[in-house]
Amino acid sequence: MTSSAEPPAVVFVGPMGAGKTSIGRRVARGLGVGFTDTDRVIVQAHGPIPDIFAAHGEARFREWEREAVTQSLQRGGVISLGGGAVLDAGTRAALAGHRVVFLTVTPRAVSARIRDGNRPLVEGDDPLARWQQIFDERRPLYEEVADRTFDTSFGPITGVADAILDWLRGEK
Ligand code: S3P
Repeated sequence: MTSSAEPPAVVFVGPMGAGKTSIGRRVARGLGVGFTDTDRVIVQAHGPIPDIFAAHGEARFREWEREAVTQSLQRGGVISLGGGAVLDAGTRAALAGHRVVFLTVTPRAVSARIRDGNRPLVEGDDPLARWQQIFDERRPLYEEVADRTFDTSFGPITGVADAILDWLRGEK
């Protein structure tokens, strides 16, 4: 829930490789507000994500992620969440009252974006199949929290960022 101490933020959710960080950064610039990537907040506090998964496991990562989301929402502006942040019921509840954008992407478009070795959940023999499975499982959660959905598969990301800015400005 929002309060006067916590103005509505613009929050990006969606699967790995959907463009949450790059589009979020552009939207923040367009709005003239700050940008926070919760993965980055976690890395700054606890080290690289693959190392966190290896040393502490996913459950601990999710705890740290929830803390990072809570802090970021208090700061406001534009926030990109990690793809799995919506798994946490507390995080989903915390998004109520904020403007939440669900970014989708096709498997074909995402395949080149998720092979950077930085996403432990899709490491292995068939990263794309794993990515699809995870996306299918989480899609209802993204839809539950989102106010609008934009697809990032085609065309330059500037076009998607501009469409989101148009929507945000029209909503005021
Ligand atoms: C994850 C997505 C990643 C990162 C971590 C786990 C997920 O963020 O938080 O590797 O569970 O989908 P991006 O969505 O920014 O890749």
